[in-house]
Amino acid sequence: MPNLIVVNRAGDETTIDAREGVSVMQAIRDNGFDELLALCGGCCSCATCHVFVDEAWAGAVGAASGDEDDLLDSSDHRGDRSRLSCQIMMAAALDGLRVAIAPED
Ligand code: FES
Repeated sequence: MPNLIVVNRAGDETTIDAREGVSVMQAIRDNGFDELLALCGGCCSCATCHVFVDEAWAGAVGAASGDEDDLLDSSDHRGDRSRLSCQIMMAAALDGLRVAIAPED
């Protein structure tokens, strides 16, 4: 099972198990991180699952889609490494992926 490293808003880092084929958002929620609201349940329509992908993983994770990119524009905290975590699917190749939960908008 791939590992996912999550940094919460307080800056605390936790390593969790994330099943392949599950979104990063779902893995974070399943492990009790309530500060990631994910209000739309992963439909790419709320932007409350905003995370910052660690720079070292940007290439492996890839770029945001057009819809995701538009939604991210609604965040005051958008940065170069912003992604919606519901749009990143865990895979063996992402073992060790590190993401930080973005500040609340
Ligand atoms: S959970 Fe709503 S956009 Fe990701």
